[in-house]
Amino acid sequence: MSKIIAIANQKGGVGKTTTAISLAGSLAKFNKQILLIDMDPQGNCGRGMGLDSSILKKTIFDVLVQDNKSDINKIIKHTTTNNVDIIPSNLKLATIESKIQGISRPFYLLRNAIEKITKPYDYIIIDCPPSLGLLNLNALCSANSVLIPVQCEYYAMEAVAQILSSIAKVQQDYNPELDILGFLLTMYDSRIRLATEVTQEIRGLFKEKTFVTQIPRNASIAEAAAVGKPITVFRPTASGSQAYISLAKEILANE
Ligand SMILES: Nc1ncnc2c1ncn2[C@@H]1O[C@H](COP(=O)(O)OP(=O)(O)OP(=O)(O)O)[C@@H](O)[C@H]1O
Ligand SMILES: [Mg+2]
Repeated sequence: MSKIIAIANQKGGVGKTTTAISLAGSLAKFNKQILLIDMDPQGNCGRGMGLDSSILKKTIFDVLVQDNKSDINKIIKHTTTNNVDIIPSNLKLATIESKIQGISRPFYLLRNAIEKITKPYDYIIIDCPPSLGLLNLNALCSANSVLIPVQCEYYAMEAVAQILSSIAKVQQDYNPELDILGFLLTMYDSRIRLATEVTQEIRGLFKEKTFVTQIPRNASIAEAAAVGKPITVFRPTASGSQAYISLAKEILANE
């Protein structure tokens, strides 16, 4: 059975997509088979893996609206990164709520679709949008666990409180198995006092649930996104790449 990890935080720009792509690239180095699913209409996950999301014919949207001609297995695309496949998204996904009116249990659309995937992936990594709507709910209802990137910045704690309350609601109403895989501190810069304060606060509150690995602020990470490759492929020796490899090791060790 694939392990399904949702990368979620409704706060924008905290490193969700970067973490989805970089973790996929890192786990792939350990010979794991990975499927990335982009649940964000921004389509950044596909773009960051080198796909042009504007010209895609079929996306996760077609899977979710249950177009009978859209077999999820045929929408999966290979990427230029070994062992990493992707189901991309684009702006059309933003119209999902109006398209599925009247469908019963709309929060299980993704879960039902994932059950039909035939290739035995080790990990399915879902990149969530920066919101707490239906797309995010579908991701949390499909996942075994949630990885929460926390940017060492202002309002980080408010965002954490909100995502924790959504997770608790999903656990109670829809997906009792959902576990918190861990909090991941991202874009850490030790020269900034606030970064150190946020780090200490998160580690103090969620000691057991915070990854030992912290992701440093690293320019190579943004460059990797621009060339459409995971940092682990683009610049394996960069500090950002090493950090994501170390995150993968933590996750594999906890299996
Ligand atoms: N460790 C890092 N060092 C430097 N830049 C980073 C790092 N992590 C992410 N970034 C950059 O920060 C920006 C936001 O990151 P990312 O897109 O991963 O966040 P997100 O949470 O997915 O955003 P959104 O909420 O819009 O989906 C991107 O331009 C990305 O390249
Ligand atoms: Mg994103």
